Amino acid sequence: MALRHFLGLTLLCHGVIAGLLGPATTERRQAVAERSVPRKLHGRFLHITDIHPDEFYKVHSSTDEDSACHRGIGPAGPYGAETSDCDTPFSLVNATFDWIAANLKDEIDFVVWTGDSARHDRDEELPRSQDQVLGTNTWIADKFAALFARPDGYGMTVPVVPTFGNNDILPHNIMLPGPNRWLQQYTHIWRHFIPEEQRHSFEFGGWFYVEVIPNKLAVFSLNTLYFFDRNAGVDGCAAPSEPGYKQLEWLRVQLQFIRERGMKAILIGHVPPARTESKRLWDETCWQKYSLWMHQFRDVVVAGLYGHMNIDHFLIGDSNDINLAALSGSAAESGIRDAMEDELTLQSASDYLLELRNDWAKLTPPPTFSEELDGIDRDGRRGGGKKRKHRWGERYHLSLISPSVVPNYFPTLRVMEYNITGLENVPLWKDTPKTTATDVFDDNRNSQKHIDLRHVSSETESGTRSDAETTKKHHNKKKQKKPHNDPNLIIPEPPSKSSPPGPAYSPQPLTLTGYTQYYANLTRINNLNLTASAGAETNSGSSFLDNLMPDWLLRWRNGKHAGKKPVAKLPQPREFTFEVEYNTFEDKIYKLGDLTVNSFVELAVRMGKPSASKQRSETGVVVDEDGDNDYGEEDSDQEGDSDEGAETEQKKRKKGKKGKKDKKRKQNRTWLHFLNHAFVGTLEKKELKKLLD
Ligand SMILES: *[C@@H]1O[C@H](CO)[C@@H](O)[C@H](O)[C@H]1NC(C)=O
Ligand SMILES: *[C@@H]1O[C@H](CO)[C@@H](O)[C@H](O)[C@H]1NC(C)=O
Ligand SMILES: *[C@@H]1O[C@H](CO)[C@@H](O)[C@H](O)[C@H]1NC(C)=O
Ligand SMILES: *[C@@H]1O[C@H](CO)[C@@H](O)[C@H](O)[C@H]1NC(C)=O
Ligand SMILES: *[C@@H]1O[C@H](CO)[C@@H](O)[C@H](O)[C@H]1NC(C)=O
Repeated sequence: MALRHFLGLTLLCHGVIAGLLGPATTERRQAVAERSVPRKLHGRFLHITDIHPDEFYKVHSSTDEDSACHRGIGPAGPYGAETSDCDTPFSLVNATFDWIAANLKDEIDFVVWTGDSARHDRDEELPRSQDQVLGTNTWIADKFAALFARPDGYGMTVPVVPTFGNNDILPHNIMLPGPNRWLQQYTHIWRHFIPEEQRHSFEFGGWFYVEVIPNKLAVFSLNTLYFFDRNAGVDGCAAPSEPGYKQLEWLRVQLQFIRERGMKAILIGHVPPARTESKRLWDETCWQKYSLWMHQFRDVVVAGLYGHMNIDHFLIGDSNDINLAALSGSAAESGIRDAMEDELTLQSASDYLLELRNDWAKLTPPPTFSEELDGIDRDGRRGGGKKRKHRWGERYHLSLISPSVVPNYFPTLRVMEYNITGLENVPLWKDTPKTTATDVFDDNRNSQKHIDLRHVSSETESGTRSDAETTKKHHNKKKQKKPHNDPNLIIPEPPSKSSPPGPAYSPQPLTLTGYTQYYANLTRINNLNLTASAGAETNSGSSFLDNLMPDWLLRWRNGKHAGKKPVAKLPQPREFTFEVEYNTFEDKIYKLGDLTVNSFVELAVRMGKPSASKQRSETGVVVDEDGDNDYGEEDSDQEGDSDEGAETEQKKRKKGKKGKKDKKRKQNRTWLHFLNHAFVGTLEKKELKKLLD
């Protein structure tokens, strides 16, 4: 079985599989822990997001909006109310950390923790206080510190990199420019995580980075609240006075240092740079600059990792969408899209995903394998340059968005894997005072940082040179970015001509190779014995979607058990565990050989809107440009989903005659597979199909 093939590498940490393997695995793990051998890289890290602990959560309370799992009698389970908008009981937080301690702790190299470690401000009877918001954040931070505490009591075994969520402050979404008391508080709460020499600058902006593999890989924690459109306390990234501008300047300077040191970077944040035809999460000027940065630093940045949306999905940014005129405010562009709601209802979530799908239909697919063998250079030129290819997809950049711990669907954890070839013996991150040697270096960068923050204009001088160079280079090319007339924009230097494509584009050390998505099936674990609905609410017997769909404006979701009441006095939960929802190494429909940009572009094109893709082949335009890319074909006959076995058989028989229809169906099948994961397996097949209409 294919599963077994990956056991050693991928699934060692999986509770259920560990159970299958028997005590040997557990023993081995204990033995390793006891010997306390020097730490080695595992090529694996944890992404955890949107924990939302709620100290007022009450088991068997009501999931209705005016109860919010805080009061009343209803189906709130002992580990949380899955598929509802209730927040996370402490029991689920504890169980999650216990599971990480038992299954992941000794097998990961670092943790990225992308924010929202406080409950939502949704219960009018229990408005949030500063103590509560900082209280749960302190609790979670201390849990991480304890989880990874070194046996000798000094510091931590692996680095944890946190970032601000829009609910980690009060009022939510609003963070004023620093320094402010929130940044000051988090400087203390995150003292285990922010490198000593960056604490001072953190108080100014709430951004920092950690060399999670010293001299090799840095994780940049971005304060996305300064990019967030709903933060009324700041105003975008165009004006040098704005913290968003300063953050991007800091990022530009730091990524340039990282490049010069031959290092790579993972960017993390809470609010992702989501931007579709009608919706956006970031201020347009921030989005524009970030996209430009991603493109210019494509040799350095491995990927962007985000949370906030609770929906499992990814974003492909296109450098062709960069419009520098938008930065100087001369383009009307910035007003077109609506700011996205804080939390998406299922319907608006599905609308949003449909818009993504439409965008994906327009992507330029990567060249086929046979063409790749045919010596195309990295700019995509071949021979006389007749056929232009983006062999590495360097036009695009990738953001991966992990679903949440809070059981808006089911609670989840994501374990990412990356290539550590050649890094087996590098010195690892140590939680010790900085050595003198690095102090010298850090001091240099530190002063740079302070200049960034306080005297942006003087720092600008040092950057102007590179700007001029960049502009000159651009002028030499026949086609270039539209000119901009923004005196405050310093375009980052592009990769040097001689540098090979970065880890986001071609497989190499530090390239993300895949991930395993874990989920806890709370329906099974909570093991509720519920009555039928007690009258007034008649939605008990109807489907999840029927529950939620009638009023699309209804923002609160009561969840799949809405209106029911528990029969037993005491909850009788089953043993808590996370199990594998899917992993990209084995997913037969996704077929992601790795997590490079082209792998996702290929998947996205395959899922692209059927009508659009049909149009493409009929006009012949895209086919001409990109070769005969039959993505539908690739999808054939090997679907892992057992439910679809009969359907597949039928399809085989119909093949030939109805080729086009087949292809369309296959495209929807990949799309449905994606939607199923987007909502963490909480929707029934027929409910998913409804989302197609
Ligand atoms: C969670 O764990 C802490 C100890 O870390 C304990 O004090 C607390 O009672 C636990 N809460 C629940 C609900 O299990
Ligand atoms: C990891 O990188 C090495 C060195 O570039 C490469 O040979 C290998 O194929 C990569 N492994 C994967 C799984 O991509
Ligand atoms: C979760 O558990 C319930 C009850 O055992 C089951 O019906 C459902 O199919 C499970 N869902 C997933 C995605 O595992
Ligand atoms: C649910 O509760 C009812 C009434 O107490 C009982 O008869 C039934 O056996 C219970 N079902 C389960 C699965 O525990
Ligand atoms: C595939 O999805 C599209 C877009 O949602 C829908 O219009 C079409 O009817 C679906 N096709 C099939 C065969 O379900």
